[in-house]
Amino acid sequence: MRPLIAGNWKMHGTGPQLPEIAAIAARVRVTAPTADILICPPSTLITRAVQAAAGQIAIGGQNCASEVSGAFTGDVSAEMLKEAGAAWVIVGHSERRQHHGETDAMVGAKAKAVWRAGLLAIICIGETDAQRRAGNALTVCADQIAGSVPDGITAVGNAIGYEPLWAIGTGHTPSLEEIGHMHSHIRQCLVARWGSQGREVRILYGGSVNPTNARAVLAVPEVGGALVGGASLKATDFEAIINKIPAHV
Ligand code: 13P
Repeated sequence: MRPLIAGNWKMHGTGPQLPEIAAIAARVRVTAPTADILICPPSTLITRAVQAAAGQIAIGGQNCASEVSGAFTGDVSAEMLKEAGAAWVIVGHSERRQHHGETDAMVGAKAKAVWRAGLLAIICIGETDAQRRAGNALTVCADQIAGSVPDGITAVGNAIGYEPLWAIGTGHTPSLEEIGHMHSHIRQCLVARWGSQGREVRILYGGSVNPTNARAVLAVPEVGGALVGGASLKATDFEAIINKIPAHV
C-alpha cells in the first residue's frame, strides 16, 4: 500500500506562505518519493496552492459541510472544495470534534459528502489523555470507527487518521509500541467490518510527528503514513519527514 504523508496547516497560512508549497513540490519532483504527498491549507489558499503544487503534490481541505449547498452561512461543501482544486478532505479532526461539537454521526455524514463529490477522505479518530489513562483508548477508537466511518472507506485511497488528542501540538507522542498496538487494533476493527477490503485502508499516525521521530514512527507495522501539523508548515521540516519514508511501507 502506498503511504500517504499529509500536512494539515490548520488555521495557518496566507499568500506569503505559498512558496513553502512550491518548495515541497520542487523537492518531490526531484526525489520522487514512494508515497502520496498532500498539503491541506486553509480553504482560502486552495486554488493558489494547487498552482504552487504544480501537479507534484495533492491539495486538500480540512473540513466540509455535509450538504451540497444551501442556507448554511460560513460553510463550504465538498463540491466547492473540489471546484477550488482539492483532491482530499480531512473530516472529524479532533479540533472540530472538540471546538465545533462534531459528533460521530456528523463526521460520518461529512465523509459521505467527500465521496459524493468524488474526493478522498481522511477520517480522524483519537482518544483524550483522560480516556487513555482510564484504559479506554482502544474502546474509544473502536466506537469512533463504528460511528463515524461509513462504508465508502474501502474505496481505493481513503485513510483513517489516528491522532491521540494529547499528542497533538504537544511534542509528546505515544511509544512506538503504543502506536503499533493502536494501529493493529484499528486494522482489526476495519477487517472485522469490511473483511479483506479493510486491509486496503491506510491508517495514518498524527500527533507531534517531526523530522526526528518520523523514521521510527513510519516504520511501525500498520502505520501507513503520517498526518503532520506544525512540522508541515515549513518546507524543510516536511521534506525531512518525507525523506524518512521506509522502503518497506
Ligand atoms: P501536530 O503535528 O502539530 O501535533 O498536529 C497534528 C495534527 O493535528 C494534524 O492533523
